[in-house]
Amino acid sequence: MSEDGTYYQRDRSWHPPAYTPQYKTSVLRAPQYPLLSLENTISEMTGPVFGHDKLGPLDNDLIRNYAKTGDPIGQRIIVYGRVLDENARPVPGALLEFWQANAGGRYRHRKESYLAALDPNFGGCGRTITDQEGHYRFRTIKPGAYPWPNGVNDWRPAHIHFSVFGHAFAQRLITQMYFEGDPMIWQCPIVSTIPDKEAIRQLIAALDRNNTIHMDALAYKFDIVLRGRRSTLFENRMEGN
Ligand SMILES: [Fe+2]
Repeated sequence: MSEDGTYYQRDRSWHPPAYTPQYKTSVLRAPQYPLLSLENTISEMTGPVFGHDKLGPLDNDLIRNYAKTGDPIGQRIIVYGRVLDENARPVPGALLEFWQANAGGRYRHRKESYLAALDPNFGGCGRTITDQEGHYRFRTIKPGAYPWPNGVNDWRPAHIHFSVFGHAFAQRLITQMYFEGDPMIWQCPIVSTIPDKEAIRQLIAALDRNNTIHMDALAYKFDIVLRGRRSTLFENRMEGN
């Protein structure tokens, strides 16, 4: 939201077109008619507000928050960064939710159809709230790549889904984070709907060797920029979503 209380318009030159047949489900999702603009209601623009008191102590620890008999299998990682506005000012109090596949690329979900094994110690969901300087941090294991029913041999690169929730229902943004150095990013039919390589690069977390934990975890840095020329690309600002 801008300082005068109005919402920013979507930058249509930065986002993928709605109709991208290489990503099959976009064919049915793409609007068939011109879009209508609806005014936001007061309740959509004013609440609710989340506080740290709503979160459990393990909500930002995916290594421990579902563990039954021990830690999950996989490469232990820290994911951290900041939520920033278009002027690089921190966004405090933003609720971040994240979900991901396990180290084998398998989701804990009823409709999951990939053969890879479930990990009894890994749920794959977590959340946290940004601090006064917009920082967030969570611990998890690196997700695996997985195949999906699109083309005959389409795989998603390793990724973590993010939801960013501000101070109102109309302020929810959704995106995906990828991992530096993964060659599968550039073969993904979903990623390739994004026409601008710079927009893709902003979805790739940097491997940060300065913030690893000794004999424990690698670190990846992922800043989320809400608006402006360096904005993170959010899925639900695309046409038709
Ligand atoms: Fe996914």
